Amino acid sequence: MSRPDERLILVLDEGTSSTRAVLYTAEGEQCGTCAQPLDQHYPGPGLVEHDAAEIWTKTLACAREMVTKAGGPERIAAIGITNQRETVVAWDKQSGEPLARAIVWQDRRTADSCEALRQAGHEPIVQRETGLLLDPYFSATKMAWLLEHAPAVRGAGDRLAFGTVDSWLTWKLSGKHISDVTNASRTLLLPLEGKDWSDDLLSLFGVPRQALPRIVGNAGPLAVTHADLFGAPIPISGMIGDQQSATVGQGCFAFGQTKLTLGTGAFVLTNVGTLAPTSPGKLLGTILCEVAGTRHYALEGAIFVAGSLIQWLRDNLGLLRSADETEALARSVDDNGGVTLLPALAGLGAPYWKPHATASISGLSFSSTRAHVARAALEAVSHQLVDLAAAFAGAGAEWHKLRIDGGMAVNDWLAQDLADMTRVEVTRPADIETTARGAALLAAVGAGIHPDLNTAAAAMIGEGVRFTPRDLGSERASRLAAWRTALDAF
Ligand code: G3P
Repeated sequence: MSRPDERLILVLDEGTSSTRAVLYTAEGEQCGTCAQPLDQHYPGPGLVEHDAAEIWTKTLACAREMVTKAGGPERIAAIGITNQRETVVAWDKQSGEPLARAIVWQDRRTADSCEALRQAGHEPIVQRETGLLLDPYFSATKMAWLLEHAPAVRGAGDRLAFGTVDSWLTWKLSGKHISDVTNASRTLLLPLEGKDWSDDLLSLFGVPRQALPRIVGNAGPLAVTHADLFGAPIPISGMIGDQQSATVGQGCFAFGQTKLTLGTGAFVLTNVGTLAPTSPGKLLGTILCEVAGTRHYALEGAIFVAGSLIQWLRDNLGLLRSADETEALARSVDDNGGVTLLPALAGLGAPYWKPHATASISGLSFSSTRAHVARAALEAVSHQLVDLAAAFAGAGAEWHKLRIDGGMAVNDWLAQDLADMTRVEVTRPADIETTARGAALLAAVGAGIHPDLNTAAAAMIGEGVRFTPRDLGSERASRLAAWRTALDAF
């Protein structure tokens, strides 16, 4: 527990499924946490929305609980913010209120406009400039959709503010309209090597510059909270997109170091150093972090559905009583019984990029049980990782070790299956919530508590456990063959 004279770091970790606030000491000890689930709105097939006002009120409630737990605002030395990326919020700069539902990163409504841009030949230049692809995943086409279809957004004129969730929270906390470089690098509007939004990209997607935030680095004196929110102003000194944050929280500071976060989706990032990646192929080139003016880059493989598949099996199909049950179910059968699950509930991300793909469960027979389906759901994560491993190796960023984290990482069966199928050693830190930890490291550096990220990591990241690859014999090849058959349907 923290000492009464010790100043703490408060992280606001706003994810897709829930928003959390976590308190850390400067030595990385977690000394308080609060979480609230977020309502997911699915108004139609392929549509996923959030209520930005709910994101704010729940985040504020969690933050206030942690400030009280800390013993008051003067005990908090710094706030770090980390968030679900790409999700677009539109709000009124005068009233501070949202103008429409936030369009979530998983939303596919702009698949056709992305296809039209691709048909018009824009993808090569967009990929070269931003490291991203023309997929509805990213923010710019969501902003264009709001401008075209949401009357309140279209009519807001100069009062319109667009932002990803980091910007929305910082606006509400401090009144500043800023976005950190990692979140900005997911919009399709910031060149990978750029410092500011590109005029060409703004005009390609039809997004007005004046609605967008100012881009800032990931650590430093970024903003200060309104005094009335917590009883005294608190500096915000770290801001970063959640997947980049987990990469920092796993201490991936050297070339080739790789993490896999198993959250709502599953995201692999490999540090590729200080030069922007030029040929990511079917992967994404992205900004990993920028501290003290030095920018690091990553290659990323984004899988859209991971933990959300387990939730869907539980909530929509009633196949599971709890998410934790999947481990026991997977162990209760010798194999998948011929069942293969293609988890394309929100299309397929890397390395396939099939926005119109839909999910399937194949190979069912009278002998299939819910245990086989649960096992197939976990196996689907590994199958996608096998394909991503090949894509990363092809892009010159082979994995030598995979550092896993996130909610699903507690599942030992899955951790071992990932090692067996990818044939790469898997390690898991004692604290699997590395997303919040990464933002804590950055806030600590930004507030001068630690001089740099390496020192912060040495003080704040602990040891973990390892899973060594085993030989699965012919099972590996037959699983992958069935996986390819399911994929070939699209
Ligand atoms: O790119 C989307 C990602 O940032 C969402 O992360 O943890 O909410 O699945 P998560």
